[in-house]
Amino acid sequence: MIPAALDLSSVPRHVACVMDGNGRWAQAQGLPRTEGHAAGEDALFDAIEGAKEIGVQWLTVFAFSTENWKRPPEEVKFLMNFNESLLVRRSHELNEMGIRILFSGRKNWRVPKRVLRSMEEATDLTKNNTEMTLTIAFNYGGRAEIIDAVKRMLEDDVPVERIDERKLARYLYEPSMPDVDLLIRTSGEHRLSNFLLWQVAYSELLFTETLWPDFRRADLYEAILECALPR
Ligand code: IPE
Ligand code: IPE
Ligand code: MG
Repeated sequence: MIPAALDLSSVPRHVACVMDGNGRWAQAQGLPRTEGHAAGEDALFDAIEGAKEIGVQWLTVFAFSTENWKRPPEEVKFLMNFNESLLVRRSHELNEMGIRILFSGRKNWRVPKRVLRSMEEATDLTKNNTEMTLTIAFNYGGRAEIIDAVKRMLEDDVPVERIDERKLARYLYEPSMPDVDLLIRTSGEHRLSNFLLWQVAYSELLFTETLWPDFRRADLYEAILECALPR
């Protein structure tokens, strides 16, 4: 249910989520950490439906960071397979919802070819959709994104006097992505962990104790309401 207090005429255009706390959720129930990642899928889809329902235009979620390669190899392997299988299993559903899927992150470094192929297929399948853009930050790091932008500017011989904020933003992974209006991080951690460093310069930041697998659209609406409060 959409809360009556939620003003649908001023819903944030771009909401970003650091989907954190999967491991702790699983541990709390005596399950292996990977079960927490699997349980995060329901949270993700509820957040997607909920965001679409109230007219959010851009939803960006942090699925795998450039730092996450430091996790135990079995967990990394699980996350690669899990994310790929999620795309294969559910891209069509997202397509039917009118959602455009984009990926943000380093594509030419470490990501298995098979996963890249599924990412391309999902992007291609949904490229004409206009209901909402879901950007999956995968093998993403905010510093890596800025470094990659600078490298590409140098490759293009962009003259120094032409470099300004607008120019650099055009070299980010997804140049059409607007700045983030609201950033939500679950699981009680109060940090950015290298997420969207450029795009969150003026975002509202909302931290909740809820662990990601327990997150639902009601939590999204609550976060939006909280940030809309006059302060
Ligand atoms: C977030 O949950 C998911 C990923 C980083 C892929 P975590 O795996 O970080 O869960 P916690 O923080 O250990 O509870
Ligand atoms: C951030 O969460 C990355 C994702 C949610 C994919 P982490 O759990 O990896 O962040 P840190 O390591 O605790 O900062
Ligand atoms: Mg974590």
